[in-house]
Amino acid sequence: MFEKERFIEECRAALKESSAQEAVRELVERAVREPSGIVRALGEPLRSGVETIYRASDLTILNLCWGPRMDIRPHDHRMWAVIGIYGGCEQNTFFRRGEQGLTRHGTRELKEKDVTRLGAEAIHAVHNPLDQITAAIHVYGGDFFATPRSEWDPSTLKEQAYDVEHTMRVFEEANQRIRAAASS
Ligand SMILES: [Fe+2]
Repeated sequence: MFEKERFIEECRAALKESSAQEAVRELVERAVREPSGIVRALGEPLRSGVETIYRASDLTILNLCWGPRMDIRPHDHRMWAVIGIYGGCEQNTFFRRGEQGLTRHGTRELKEKDVTRLGAEAIHAVHNPLDQITAAIHVYGGDFFATPRSEWDPSTLKEQAYDVEHTMRVFEEANQRIRAAASS
């Protein structure tokens, strides 16, 4: 059964392993194997948004709910990440830096109970293809909010500083769609 405080402690302990990311992957895999346990501990995902479960200089744990049909532009993290889906589905498009700028480099669809690891160099865009919320546990090997990062314009693929306010607007627009759907 997923317990928030125990999960945080276990992730903290995993940082001491020789492969911290692999140790965290095992923890996230175990957690999302029973999605109902996460919902019981963190609440039913009813709106899109980011809930910070834990934040320190060497570890960030987020409960991330993508709104229906939500799109997140290409971005990097500059630290390793482990993502585990406990509801819905997310489509990842991966990119690489090249001499001509960013180039597309594969896709991966993650469904409930799937877990993926992203390296510190990873660049990805995320799309929720569903008319419902996609809910995921994200664990990062650093302070996700304090690390300067990049994002890329989705049409020109031009690099720019990560714009937190834009991301928050995308979440809010998704919530407006949820409210509109509920009242129609
Ligand atoms: Fe990301």
